[in-house]
Amino acid sequence: MTPMTAEPLLSLQDLTVRFRLPAGETVAVDGVSLDLAPGEVLGIVGESGSGKSQILYALMGLLASNGRAGGRALFQGQDLLSLTEAQLDRVRGQAVSMIFQDPMTSLNPYMRVVDQLAEGLVVHKGMSWASARAEGVRMLDRVRIPDAARRARLYPHEFSGGMRQRVMIAMALLARPRLLLADEPTTALDVTIQAQVLDLMAELGRETGAAIVLVTHDLGVVARLCDRVAVLYGGRVMEEGAAEALFDAPAHPYTRGLLAAMPRLETTLTPRLGTIPGTPRSGGAMLAGCPFAPRCEARFDRCTHERPALHPLRSQGPGRRAACHLSEPAT
Ligand SMILES: Nc1ncnc2c1ncn2[C@@H]1O[C@H](COP(=O)(O)OP(=O)(O)OP(=O)(O)O)[C@@H](O)[C@H]1O
Ligand SMILES: [Mg+2]
Repeated sequence: MTPMTAEPLLSLQDLTVRFRLPAGETVAVDGVSLDLAPGEVLGIVGESGSGKSQILYALMGLLASNGRAGGRALFQGQDLLSLTEAQLDRVRGQAVSMIFQDPMTSLNPYMRVVDQLAEGLVVHKGMSWASARAEGVRMLDRVRIPDAARRARLYPHEFSGGMRQRVMIAMALLARPRLLLADEPTTALDVTIQAQVLDLMAELGRETGAAIVLVTHDLGVVARLCDRVAVLYGGRVMEEGAAEALFDAPAHPYTRGLLAAMPRLETTLTPRLGTIPGTPRSGGAMLAGCPFAPRCEARFDRCTHERPALHPLRSQGPGRRAACHLSEPAT
């Protein structure tokens, strides 16, 4: 666990993502501010459409062409949102890696796995192909691909789904990034394989000192692997805190709903977000009030016309914040 006092590796400051649509503009990420310390593992949870992926895409410069990011995303003090394509390419190849949900979207089907692993080291680190390939095979071995030296010469389609995810993790960590962004990295896999792959990712993250942002629907995974959690709804952070503290005493009605709708953590292998009555809010115009108000059982008048700020929960120790009028400190 990393102390909260460390200089942040990544600092999102009022990050917004808007999309232009024929009917007008939609807001997918609505003023998200989050810090990530070096080596820290941050989970981002929330229902489908809450803006989780767009946060990561904004950081990596991968928004769809009708999308635009605002605010700041300081990585080691440098604003990722203001980099040129060439500068961003260097950051993506070395300091920041991303693991996508479907490994085939980032593996080249026509290239041997070992060459895909080696390519980044040759291009970005100036290594020779021979030593880069050797390094790639070592990494495959570390992610427990059996018979790595032989398998490295195969093509992606010759690997099982679980193996391909491991190849992705190997590829993402090969450059020893300071920051790993993982977007639902295992939803395509069997339950038992999911747990193995995620544990492996976290273990390698710890070994290499990489900080991880892990986007997931799976609260069990968050409880097991994450130091800290941010709960997202309608593009806003509803609640944030140390994973244990947040699960012990959720402050926001939305978080409480998520937890209540979920099977007990210790009794199932992969508790997933359950169902809260009502329709999840995803994208849309800026709202005056709380985005969760239309579905909230605890709402009162103020909730529908005044947006609750993300404020510290003082009784709950450092780093605990929530955006709910009910938990605001008395003034
Ligand atoms: N190109 C686009 N144009 C318009 N809206 C978009 C575009 N891409 C994404 N959105 C909207 O942005 C919102 C947030 O999407 P995002 O992909 O971040 O959700 P998510 O939390 O990752 O959901 P999931 O859990 O399903 O992956 C959604 O309402 C989505 O429809
Ligand atoms: Mg997503």
